[in-house]
Amino acid sequence: MNTNLSSSVPSQVETECLVVVVLDRSEKDRSGKDQGEKDKPVPSVECTDAAVREAAKEVISSGEVTGKAFETTLLHRPAGLKAKRLLLVGGGKAKTFSAAELRKLAGAAVRTLKDKSIRSFAFALPESGIPAPDAVRAIVEGAFVGNFDPGYYKSDREDKDNDQKIDSVTVLVPENVPGDPKALESALQAGRIVGESQNFTRDLVNEPSNRMTPTILAERAKKMAAEVGLKCEIFGADKIKELKMGAFWGVAQGSDEPPALILLRYGPEGAAKDVHLGLVGKGVTFDTGGISIKPADGMEKMKYDMAGAATMIGVMRAIALLKPKVKVTAIICATENMPSGKAQKPGDVQIAMSGKSIEIINTDAEGRLILADGLCYARQLGCTHLVDAATLTGAVVVALGYVNAGIFASDDQMYERFANANQQAGEKMWRLPLDDEYKEIIKSNIADIVNSGGRWGGAISAAMFLKEFAEDTPWIHLDIAGTAWMEEAKPWIAKGPSGIALRSLVEFVRGWSEPL
Ligand code: BES
Ligand code: MN
Ligand code: ZN
Repeated sequence: MNTNLSSSVPSQVETECLVVVVLDRSEKDRSGKDQGEKDKPVPSVECTDAAVREAAKEVISSGEVTGKAFETTLLHRPAGLKAKRLLLVGGGKAKTFSAAELRKLAGAAVRTLKDKSIRSFAFALPESGIPAPDAVRAIVEGAFVGNFDPGYYKSDREDKDNDQKIDSVTVLVPENVPGDPKALESALQAGRIVGESQNFTRDLVNEPSNRMTPTILAERAKKMAAEVGLKCEIFGADKIKELKMGAFWGVAQGSDEPPALILLRYGPEGAAKDVHLGLVGKGVTFDTGGISIKPADGMEKMKYDMAGAATMIGVMRAIALLKPKVKVTAIICATENMPSGKAQKPGDVQIAMSGKSIEIINTDAEGRLILADGLCYARQLGCTHLVDAATLTGAVVVALGYVNAGIFASDDQMYERFANANQQAGEKMWRLPLDDEYKEIIKSNIADIVNSGGRWGGAISAAMFLKEFAEDTPWIHLDIAGTAWMEEAKPWIAKGPSGIALRSLVEFVRGWSEPL
């Protein structure tokens, strides 16, 4: 998809469709004042160009348009405009409108228009108080996210694909907008890099496990690394054993597919000497549960158990292109979790790379095993701050549903940085606790710890397990089990892989380029 900036006056732009935001400027008043007006929407066309407001006047005064979020109204041959169509997209209450809403609106515009075989459109920057560079970036990111659809293996996809994608988006920014025009251009580029990287991640997650083995994941990472100029190293079973990654190998030993340990390194000149970020990803390309096998119902979804890995690979792509001044290494642990004659069994004891012994209570708690060694290896490589992303527990879905991802942080300062980035990225996440009391749940009779603390507080006991391996290195764990896959389509995003956490992580990494 092409992306452009233009300072043309919206009414004068020749385009298949001009997209304009409508906000509801009603002031809901709970104090009792203006009671008669309560809840009545006051739709306002957010465009400085009077000709555009004029073109929308009739439909607005008809009462059909309220400005409610994701409401779309399409007008053909709008009077006084050079555009063939005018699409009004509702953005909800003006008071709560933010870059996060704008990002979704751009996605919703893309999804509305591409279904009508429209290939290109112009999006007028709304008059909403969002700084122009942030708004440009949000529009571009949202447009990329909206343009992705996962129906790859439909045999009629080829033709449909050609009709059903937007080829070109132009963001219209008024000439008199305050600030440096270069900042707008770099916001456009950043939006494009991040949007494309998020879709790159979604592509990887979308592949079924017969087409996304650990070996294939490693090849995809390597190809991407060559394209963007990252160093990539791929190791197999020999290296995993040589590094004494007994926890990782305990999972990998049960599969006929060879595991892969993937390293992606980014080390720009001028990076701070005392910071080295380590991004660790869970890459279980299929999780049957192993000998503690999962029920058949819904097991097909376990192809997305490599979403954490795909996220970290996508983050590295974005970082390589955005070039922040900070050293970053991604450590991806990729394997299948299979039952077989070679598979580990409940009751087995594995010795992790760090030397800690683990009693395997449930072979379905495999993610924490591979991450344990991934985190330990990251520390050995000299990482000063660790982040892992993983579809780790069903329990996080019980706790937070499909709305928020779980955040765990061992260090409040690092958490503040992450929360800041998360806020900017407009992704929903919620912090969960890591009190020492929870350590009780992972005590073992025979070894240092067990790999499963049972049902209660399951997302927390999994995080407590990981903490044993992050040790005293500041660390954040993101449990994306409930959010990496959209259970249903939303106006701004297709059903399927979401690419959650990528934007927050990219922003988080960029934040280390400058002092907080
Ligand atoms: N990959 C699953 C977690 C998961 C669940 C991801 C739902 C996506 C959607 C993980 O490996 C797992 O099986 N966890 C177990 C842990 C239990 C055995 C302690 C779980 O959550 O049931
Ligand atoms: Mn599992
Ligand atoms: Zn799993």
